[in-house]
Amino acid sequence: MQLVEREKLDKRIETLKQCYGNDRSALLPILQDLQAEYGLLTGLIMQETAHALGIHPVEVEGVATFYSFLRTDQKQGKYVIRLCRTISCDLAGKARVARQFENELGIRFGETTKDGLFTLEYTNCLGMCDQGPAVMINDRLFAKVTPQMVPQIIMDCRQDFLKTVFPEITPSDVQKEGPILKNALPFGEGLKKALTLSRSDVIATIREAGLKGRGGAGFPTATKWQLAGTAVSDTKYVVCNADEGEPGTFKDRYLLHAQTDLLLAGMTIAGYAIGAQKGYLYLRGEYLYLRKHLEKSIEKRRQSGLLGKDIQGKKGFSFDVELRLGAGAYICGEETALIESLEGQRGEPRNRPPFPVDTGFMGNPTIVNNVETFIDAAIICAKGPAWFAEYGTEKSKGTKLFSISGDCKKPGIYELPFGITVQELLEEVGGEDAKAVQIGGASGHCIPAPEFKRNIAFEDISSGGSIIVFGKNRDMLQVAKNFMEFFTEESCGQCTPCREGNIKILEGIELLEKGRCSTSYLNELIRLGETMQLASKCGLGQSSPNAFLSIVEHFKNEILGRVPEAV
Ligand code: FES
Repeated sequence: MQLVEREKLDKRIETLKQCYGNDRSALLPILQDLQAEYGLLTGLIMQETAHALGIHPVEVEGVATFYSFLRTDQKQGKYVIRLCRTISCDLAGKARVARQFENELGIRFGETTKDGLFTLEYTNCLGMCDQGPAVMINDRLFAKVTPQMVPQIIMDCRQDFLKTVFPEITPSDVQKEGPILKNALPFGEGLKKALTLSRSDVIATIREAGLKGRGGAGFPTATKWQLAGTAVSDTKYVVCNADEGEPGTFKDRYLLHAQTDLLLAGMTIAGYAIGAQKGYLYLRGEYLYLRKHLEKSIEKRRQSGLLGKDIQGKKGFSFDVELRLGAGAYICGEETALIESLEGQRGEPRNRPPFPVDTGFMGNPTIVNNVETFIDAAIICAKGPAWFAEYGTEKSKGTKLFSISGDCKKPGIYELPFGITVQELLEEVGGEDAKAVQIGGASGHCIPAPEFKRNIAFEDISSGGSIIVFGKNRDMLQVAKNFMEFFTEESCGQCTPCREGNIKILEGIELLEKGRCSTSYLNELIRLGETMQLASKCGLGQSSPNAFLSIVEHFKNEILGRVPEAV
């Protein structure tokens, strides 16, 4: 790079610092913007960024090589075609779409065309599971892609999207609205009511409603807020985990678009309750196209006095929200990994304790909740805890938003009360013929037909909302393989049980596929999976064997002694 260009780069980094901040937490957004402008994070870019932020270039490289959306090795094409290879898109026929992209472009996945125009890549769940196969090209999404559509999509790219004949993203169908979706409040309403209460009364209201985190773990929201609220610190943070990357989950994509004000109200209420001045909305990189909408909504609330200083005239209560983008790392859905990512680090989970409510973002008390939890909190404050607690079960109050995909007649988003049985849910979605249902995404459990009477609730089958239906002709070993491929790729590699265990189980599945796995080796794989559940450092490794173990338990007849066609 010439001296002039280097000076230009340095100036650009200075401008980005003014936008994102002067410290390490600005690293990820700076790298994302520089990659968008230069197409590649070269050694010089990383070096100059490191210099500007006062950190070592090796650390910048460590971050840049961690996230799958950042490139340090090979310049990407002008159009990066990312085809989802995760389970719901796989069921919907992604393999044929992949083949056709390769045929049309004359390259394989992982390669770039000689003219530098196209890069073909696989990616994991794009949050379009009800409309697969899904493809993301730069920041645009294409749904229900068929092999016949591929030549036209490529031609549209060549003409710079001048005439896109195929629909891009269509909003996910909301198939069933419940009290939460039906009760969208007037602009600013959720927050107004909350600010009439004292901070402790807000937390008491959330407690009375029985709200538990909607991410799947079900930790009581009020307890989390209480712990952060009583932690002694002048600086506290609220973080919204909008990094839904669990295969089969797409409800947040809808909520982020349709219920933005309630979400921001929920974050502001949390800020009021715990005494935080700043919130971060951590949006998954795959939802880049929502950025403008979210930034506009944040700005509108600032202009309306719902964010900023002395909110709604309440002296001393100041709170603002900043949007940060993830960069293609599933592990950042884990709250401590997300905080690391916000701090400009590799998204590797922390040891706990200490917990984020005590030592979170930049060492300060921090609460992390997901999109649905904040929305529920805002509605609870407006309509009262009794209204919310009317729905659901004794231990799982309220309703839950489910993302339904796979082999059913009516995929989409459903709001249903906690406690519903799997069978009732299948009747709602037109999936009565299912032989199994994956509840909770790749990290959840595969429930076979004889167990369809079980309840979806924290006290029985817990779920963050992903439900994937498998029809009677599905090959369950292929399902297990798809999940393990996902985890092999997404493991952050920090701890041995997860880093090595996922690979070993995947190799075992490949043996089963070839019909070359003895029952004694299969038992060893089961023991390995159980060890991973106990010994992995974070939720990813602790839950990654779940699907494999439940499929082995319930579908042994299907997976043993297979005779591959080619043999
Ligand atoms: Fe492909 Fe979710 S978008 S599985």
